[in-house]
Amino acid sequence: MDSNTLIAIDGYASTGKSTLAKMLSRHYKLTFIDSGSLYRGVTFYALEKGLFENDQLDKEALKEELDFLKLRFKHDNGDLFLNSENVSKKIRLPDVSDHVSTVAALTMVREFILKQIRQMQNKNGMVVDGRDIGTVVFPDADCKFFFMARPEVRARRRFEELKAQGQQTTFEEVLENLVHRDKIDTSREISPLRKAVDAIEIDTSEMNADKVFALLVEKIDSKLNL
Ligand code: DC
Repeated sequence: MDSNTLIAIDGYASTGKSTLAKMLSRHYKLTFIDSGSLYRGVTFYALEKGLFENDQLDKEALKEELDFLKLRFKHDNGDLFLNSENVSKKIRLPDVSDHVSTVAALTMVREFILKQIRQMQNKNGMVVDGRDIGTVVFPDADCKFFFMARPEVRARRRFEELKAQGQQTTFEEVLENLVHRDKIDTSREISPLRKAVDAIEIDTSEMNADKVFALLVEKIDSKLNL
């Protein structure tokens, strides 16, 4: 594998993108970037700074705050740091999930994150997962995948994850949040979630992670002549 290989995994929430991106990054020794966690980082920051009032975001205030915001991954364990704070767990809280699509729909935030991700590009090559990686961030990626799965399957997976973390939520709440986010993510004006024309579609509804992994490795090895 070329050291600057780029693999893009886009798709709907809770389809297994990050799990698979992580597995592929280990297998091919590439850097793993979960771009959704960067949008979550900005959202967490906005919530912590009190920039949401009655669910209305003070966009002007956020615009000014972006100059003071640094997001970095610690790559030995993938933890996300916001300035000097490890926010890896906090960005998964339901309050962040409920507000992240609003924040991710803002042009200034997308430009900010785009710059951050491009700066992370390094000589190791990367596996990046998100919503617009194959369409906007890295349109020339070597391999592109687009993940989908039935909403109930996705909600069940996210619900089990949150439960395992000890978070108080119900299956119905998780399903509602997913469907709501899908709607905002696919209908926003800037960089909406959509499949790149050259992306391979993967439906993960009936496959466990190992099965998806085997399928992706087969596709990647054949595309890159490995
Ligand atoms: O993958 P995730 O659920 O952690 O992503 C959180 C939100 O971030 C998701 O609702 C949409 C947004 N996002 C985006 O707009 N573009 C990306 N490349 C990644 C995530």
